[in-house]
Amino acid sequence: MKKILVVLLSLLALSATAQESSQRTSVVCGPYLQNVTTTGFTVMWISDVDAVAWVEVAPDDNQSFYYADRPKFYDLSGSGIKPVNKVHKVTVSGLEPGTRYRYRIMMKAVDKYYHFLDINYGREYGADVYTSEPPVVKTLETSYKEVKFSVVNDIHEKDSLLRRLFSDQEKTRKMDFVVFNGDMTSSLSTVDKLVKFDLTPACELFASELPFYMVRGNHEFRGRDAIHFPEYFDFPSHGPYYTFKYGNYFFLVMDSGEDKPDNDIEYQDAYCTDPYLRAEAEWLKGIVASEDWKNAEKRIVFSHIPPQTTDAWHGNWNMSNLFLPVLNGASVDLMICGHRHSYAFEKIGVSDAKFPVLVNSNCERADIKVSPKSISIEIFNPDGKKLRSVKL
Ligand SMILES: [Fe+2]
Repeated sequence: MKKILVVLLSLLALSATAQESSQRTSVVCGPYLQNVTTTGFTVMWISDVDAVAWVEVAPDDNQSFYYADRPKFYDLSGSGIKPVNKVHKVTVSGLEPGTRYRYRIMMKAVDKYYHFLDINYGREYGADVYTSEPPVVKTLETSYKEVKFSVVNDIHEKDSLLRRLFSDQEKTRKMDFVVFNGDMTSSLSTVDKLVKFDLTPACELFASELPFYMVRGNHEFRGRDAIHFPEYFDFPSHGPYYTFKYGNYFFLVMDSGEDKPDNDIEYQDAYCTDPYLRAEAEWLKGIVASEDWKNAEKRIVFSHIPPQTTDAWHGNWNMSNLFLPVLNGASVDLMICGHRHSYAFEKIGVSDAKFPVLVNSNCERADIKVSPKSISIEIFNPDGKKLRSVKL
């Protein structure tokens, strides 16, 4: 009788294990590209359950993805231990400049993680390259004659508007990258809003194959989950302010902070943006002193909050007192902003910025082409109709 009981218990245990190990994971959002460089790129995506993840990469040739065992790249943020989580961030390196690669995202669900190294894995997930073509990414060229990009901002969770602004897929594909210039959400009370209103449409519209860059707006400071905002992008560890280059064209992404002082009653003592923005200003001094900045063909700055001296709020004060003293005199060719929800193109002298400033509206798309001789700006409404153009 005792033996029968032991066998029954063993069978029950096996059955339970079999059920647990049948769990599989799927992609909730993604993949989306971050930090595409001349020699690599970062892929991010979100899974429904905890999983370990990797990315497989193949040349964009005529061979099947299944022709060979493809190189595997893992999330190295665990310093040698595979992270177990839902937000996955894998950097692929060692590639050739200006070259197209196919990639597919891979995962293995983690059902249980016991005290030591007893891990119950679920079924593996792999993007099925039989039924859908794997996305293709092109590494950056070492030099560019011109660079083209699209900018939207202040969409404030209207994802249907975002989809309309990028409905011309053919046109979007001709761009080198896309920028979300802040306030794409109204608050991050739950991080699901970032996924639903920003990342999911971005992935469906362009971000699996086209690099996109996120600029934090003041509304992305707000809400209980706002502190998790940086985890959904491949930002530097110091925060969502950074630079990137396309050949000799230099792009600076700033975090312009909140629009009111930290001690405003509305913020309920949640912020310490003053020391954070001061640290950013110190970092900025190093950027404009760098050889890359000085030798750049053009220097384009993204900042959600614009320079403004009339009817200025504290966000404009930060710009005037922390950032413009560094940027004025640093040969900025154009600053691209949002925040005001209305269009303006401000020549030197309109504010205290010593460079031209484009303020894009909250319902239009700015397509910008930068070349050695000029910067051209075209503004489109959600129906794709060109409303304005400016040439610098
Ligand atoms: Fe704003």
